[in-house]
Amino acid sequence: MFLQKIEKFLFDDSYYINSNFFYIRIYRWNPYLSLNPWFNIFPLKLLEVKQVMVLDLLFYIKNNYDSTLVFRRSCREGICGSCSMNINGFNSLACLESFNPKFSQFLTIYPLPHMLILKDLVCDLTNFYNQYRLIKPWLIQKETFNKKENLQSKVDRFVLDGLYECILCACCSASCPSYWWNYDKYLGPAILLQTYKWLIDSRDTAQKTRSSFLNNSLRLSKCHGITNCTKVCPKNLNPAQIINFLKYFSKI
Ligand code: SF4
Ligand code: F3S
Ligand code: FES
Repeated sequence: MFLQKIEKFLFDDSYYINSNFFYIRIYRWNPYLSLNPWFNIFPLKLLEVKQVMVLDLLFYIKNNYDSTLVFRRSCREGICGSCSMNINGFNSLACLESFNPKFSQFLTIYPLPHMLILKDLVCDLTNFYNQYRLIKPWLIQKETFNKKENLQSKVDRFVLDGLYECILCACCSASCPSYWWNYDKYLGPAILLQTYKWLIDSRDTAQKTRSSFLNNSLRLSKCHGITNCTKVCPKNLNPAQIINFLKYFSKI
């Protein structure tokens, strides 16, 4: 009987309905403990709080309940991209995502899916940044190019809109099934969007090298148009559409 009650308490959401609490469930894993990953459930009393940012809730838990909880953050303004995680089944930024306990009693937080985990909500982004390095994310110019100033027309500058805003949070890549299964071959939506940004920048002179890099292997062709990437982007960018432009550019 007791065990049944505990089981119900732990696994059946309906047990909590009408209680005066809301519950934050957080994925935990510590590489220094020889334990499987586990879920921590933090019950918080329903206060007169109307809406709160998820990052503030994580800080509240860390400061008041469990100081060992680990997560990344820096700017708390949706600019650095470091607080990306899976919030109620949706990759997003904890500092931009709000939670209202009046509408839902449950908030479930996982690290970004299909990434290696370093600890709790912190993913290992080494592969992601190695791929970023591969695309040479800097302006490449011929030696003879005008060394003084890189002028752009208004139109040249305009085409970079929807690209330069990317903060490399990896929400899109971690939501793409094709990237989950081919993370070592396929560049994924975030890095492809960045590639396109350099490819169409009027000041860059390495278009040929950049597009032949994409034609090699499965770096671009593994996109199957699933469009999860566009659905989750917290900056409202459209990597799926950009990948289509890239395919056109690279004649795939
Ligand atoms: Fe993040 Fe959007 Fe850039 Fe993807 S495209 S890395 S989701 S900002
Ligand atoms: Fe993946 Fe987006 Fe393509 S979800 S398959 S990168 S359209
Ligand atoms: Fe910088 Fe969230 S803390 S984007």
